[in-house]
Order: sequence, then structure tokens, then C-alpha cells
Amino acid sequence: QYQTHTDTCFLFSGLIGCSWAMVFAAGGFKVKLYDIAQQQLTSALENIRKQMKELEESGFLKGALSAEQQLALISICTDLRAAVEGATFIQECTPENLELKKKIFSQLDLIVGDNVILSSSTSCLLPSKLFTGLKHVKQCIVSHPVNPPYFVPLVEIVPHPETDPSTTERTYALMKTIGQSPVKLNREIEGFVLNRLQYAVISEAWRLVGVCISNYCERYREGMRLVLNTFGPVPEFSGEIEQKISQAMSEKIPVVPKVLDARRKRRDEYLTGLAKLKKQMKSD
Ligand code: NAI
Repeated sequence: QYQTHTDTCFLFSGLIGCSWAMVFAAGGFKVKLYDIAQQQLTSALENIRKQMKELEESGFLKGALSAEQQLALISICTDLRAAVEGATFIQECTPENLELKKKIFSQLDLIVGDNVILSSSTSCLLPSKLFTGLKHVKQCIVSHPVNPPYFVPLVEIVPHPETDPSTTERTYALMKTIGQSPVKLNREIEGFVLNRLQYAVISEAWRLVGVCISNYCERYREGMRLVLNTFGPVPEFSGEIEQKISQAMSEKIPVVPKVLDARRKRRDEYLTGLAKLKKQMKSD
């Protein structure tokens, strides 16, 4: 599955972008990391190096290449034209802001050729909002990862109504090649599938903060269908309940880099442990 490819992938750096970069490098792809700030790129690369070394030491580095070999595949760039050159797949990972993403895709639209795939990591923005009107709309798609994609392989592949089926198939095949578990959606829908499920759970948990638990249990006994039919209006995610949850969370987890970094590290250790268990179970 993992081999050295001549293809180059172009990614925007940031939390998701760096994790994607590691996934593509593990798959043997050349990676160009792009960002508006040089400092962001330098620290992104340092962070990737640190993570790869740790993974290699613990025996959980993905792919057939060593950490050094994978690192050698990743380069950084602050010039959009130079970043695009030679790329066959572009994975946009900028902040979740429609206007910003539209601006970036319209810039890319002017400088890419007819063969490159323009893919977005967006969590919630519909392909029809992001890509309509672009000259290269047939080459556009959403590849929505789960954080962090290095450890959680699910990728939702969501086409624009005008996306060429070959773009969907190529993206699906590419994701498989780099070891991800892609899922194709036949059409776009708000929240795609994963976040629709996730948001339904979050909304109900939110309502339960204000509603007595036995009331919930009474309704739950009636079955899943009843629960789904009783879903209330979409919460505002603000006001008194926000304060309450925010206070409870900051008491439990102080919002300081040291604590957050330690929690992220622990999460990644758990995920590594899970990967180990899955590997063992597969070989049993
Ligand atoms: P982030 O804030 O960590 O990274 C965004 C990066 O974009 C930063 O490096 C920033 O410097 C860069 N950037 C900002 N403006 C730019 C511009 N004009 N041109 C180029 N680069 C620019 O954000 P994160 O969390 O990595 O999210 C990126 C995307 O991935 C979002 O669309 C988000 O919805 C999606 N996503 C995020 C997940 C998460 O759990 N964080 C999970 C799945 C998808």
C-alpha cells in the first residue's frame, strides 16, 4: 500500500494541515506546505519533525519510510504560485470561514491546470457554497477529515453537483492509497454525515443540562424513533448554559498551553494504544 510516489500534494498548514502532511508523507507523497506566515510554517515543520520522531521511537510511525525520509518529502512555501506548481492534489485547510475559503479557491482557480484536484477540509461548508462559479468546478471536492487524520482515518468525500465523477473516484482512490478510510456521499447535505450525527448528540446533551435526567429516560424507553422525533429546536450555543458549561470545563481543564498540550499528548497516546490493539486483533 505504501510506496514512493512522484505526485506532489499541496497543503495549507495549521492543525489539520500538519496532520494531513504526515499522512501524505507516510504514503510516500511529496508534500508542499503553504501558509501566509513564514513563522507558522517553520513551527509547523518543527512540530511535524517532533511528532514523527516520537512515533518512530514508539514504533507507530506510519508508512514504509523512516521519519527522516518522510521529513525529506515535506517542503514549505509562502508563494501560492510556487506551491501549486507540480501539484496533483491540493488539500485546503484554512480556517472555517466561507469568504476566506472562497477567496482562496478563486485564486487557485486562476492558476491551476485541468488535472489537479482542488479539495477542501471544511467541516460544515457545502461544496455548492464553496465552489459554484469556479472555472475548475469539475475538479473540486470536499475531503472532510476527522481530527487528527493521522490517527482517525475516516474521510467524508462530498462532491459539488458539478464535480466530475472522475474527481470523486480519484480522490477516493488517493485516500485509500495513503491509508485513510474514505466514505463517499452521493450528494451534499448540511453537516455531511459525521457532523449531523455528532451535532444531534451534542444538541441533546445540551438540552439535558437543563432537563431532568429521568424525564430523558422516560422518553428514551419509547425507542430511538421517538427520541429523534422529539429533537427540539437548534440551540443558540450561547447564554446561561454556555456560561455554565464553560465554567465547569475551565475548572476541570484550565485553558493554558501546558495543560492543553499535555491533554493532546495523552489523547494521542490513547489513540496510539488503540491502533496497537487493532493491529494485534487483526493478526490474531
Ligand atoms: P487552524 O487555525 O489550526 O489552521 C488554519 C491555518 O490556515 C493556519 O496555519 C493559518 O495560518 C492558515 N491561514 C489563515 N489564513 C490563510 C490564508 N489566507 N491563506 C493561507 N493560509 C491561511 O485550523 P484547523 O483546525 O487546522 O482547521 C482547518 C480546516 O479544517 C477548517 O476548515 C476546519 O473546519 C477543518 N477541520 C478541522 C477539524 C478540527 O478538529 N480542527 C476537523 C476536521 C476538519
